[in-house]
Amino acid sequence: MKNIITKDYQEMSQLTARIIADEIKKKPNMAFAIPTGGTPIGTLQELVNIYNKEKLDFSKLKCFNIDEYVSLEKEHEQSYYYFLNHYLYQKTNISPSNTYVPNVFNDLEKECHDYEKIIQEHGNFDFILLGIGEDGHIGFNEPQALHQAYCHVQKLDQSTIEANSRFFEKKEEVPKHAITLGMATILKSKKIVLIANGKKKANVIKKLLSTQEINPLFPASFLLLHNDVTIICDQDAING
Ligand code: F6R
Repeated sequence: MKNIITKDYQEMSQLTARIIADEIKKKPNMAFAIPTGGTPIGTLQELVNIYNKEKLDFSKLKCFNIDEYVSLEKEHEQSYYYFLNHYLYQKTNISPSNTYVPNVFNDLEKECHDYEKIIQEHGNFDFILLGIGEDGHIGFNEPQALHQAYCHVQKLDQSTIEANSRFFEKKEEVPKHAITLGMATILKSKKIVLIANGKKKANVIKKLLSTQEINPLFPASFLLLHNDVTIICDQDAING
């Protein structure tokens, strides 16, 4: 795993956006999987800046949500559909027909199966951007003895619900389940970049950079199985 340390969040976001833009230049129709949450906001904003300044064409880009909360309407400001629309899709020429997100109001099992099928029909992802939970989750694959290989419904851990409650008015509003990509699909991506910032991520980043074991109770350790992973984090996520 390659590790790049940046001086701050802004530099992390700029560098990550530049890497994504370069990939889009190489393959304008790449299949790109995108996370939500606090960490990627700066990266998406920088990507929009590059789009505007460099007239980069996103019209062929295929964009996939990594996860979606079960039970939140698309219009809900905390739905992940809303998030990517707000930070990226509406601000670029990404075609709505090239954006994919699980529909959490369908039969969930069928939806997971269909979402996985669409990803496979695209030949899996060319590029996946990941965040990381303080407990080591990637996507919403929580620490657990058994991991689902493919798209599935995941019960969120209490610690994830607590962490994500900062985006909701009341903790009780945070959904308890999400549809997420499974580990196999994440690992089939040709390129993986994981971003992390801030002191709260220092423990998990230290653990990730030092681990030599694949431990299902530390989901990010599955990244050791991939040969093109770059971890980009700011000084705070390294030094605490
Ligand atoms: C969300 C996702 C999660 C987040 C993680 C970190 O789409 O896939 O794995 O990346 O929970 O969230 P933040 O960035 O809010 O710290």
